[in-house]
Amino acid sequence: MSLIAPSILSADFAYLMEDIKEVEYAGADWLHFDVMDGQFVPNISFGYKVLEDIKPYTDMVMDVHLMVLEPDHLIPEFAKRGADYITVHYEAIDDLSATLELIRSLGCKVGLSLNPDTDPHLLKPYLSQIDLILVMSVFPGFGGQSFIESTMESTAYFVEQRQLHGYSYLVEMDGGVSPANALRLRDAGVDVLVAGSAIFGADDYVEVIRQMKGNK
Ligand code: DX5
Ligand code: ZN
Repeated sequence: MSLIAPSILSADFAYLMEDIKEVEYAGADWLHFDVMDGQFVPNISFGYKVLEDIKPYTDMVMDVHLMVLEPDHLIPEFAKRGADYITVHYEAIDDLSATLELIRSLGCKVGLSLNPDTDPHLLKPYLSQIDLILVMSVFPGFGGQSFIESTMESTAYFVEQRQLHGYSYLVEMDGGVSPANALRLRDAGVDVLVAGSAIFGADDYVEVIRQMKGNK
């Protein structure tokens, strides 16, 4: 069974807390925060104030995805507001080991992400340092894009490396995930399914999350 992480990027910000309460009630496990800086990606979303305001009202795991160039200045701010996982991008950082270590030193779980066109082998030196690998199955920046099939090769690589070396990181996929491909992703070894438009665009959150988890 996979964990389900709705991305609030696709929620209705005018009713944000109501949407979050509804997905939690519907069985979501994690809440995914897409933080965009307008530089690493061509879009701007929101900062740690949103996490700070939401945190007291939910028990879901706070999963922060930083699509930000050189995010070291923001990492302590998200940690302070109660982030559980903080994920940074391989492509966005010069001294990646130091950034991963910074996340760990603040008591958060360490996540590492890669874009669909990044060779997964480049991340090999960091795999012993992480708790989560986030495979982007779309180019980051916007919700509602189509799943890029070739990213399954990256997922297969990270699942294989985990088994070969006895690593314990979780594998998460993000972008174009829906009930239509969830079963295939679970079978491929994906532990956490991020979905924005497929969940918040659905009429029935209980039903869409049940389908994605594969529950009868
Ligand atoms: C893309 C974000 C994703 C996105 C997912 O930049 O990282 O989390 O919101 O949205 P959907 O599920 O609609 O592809
Ligand atoms: Zn994301």
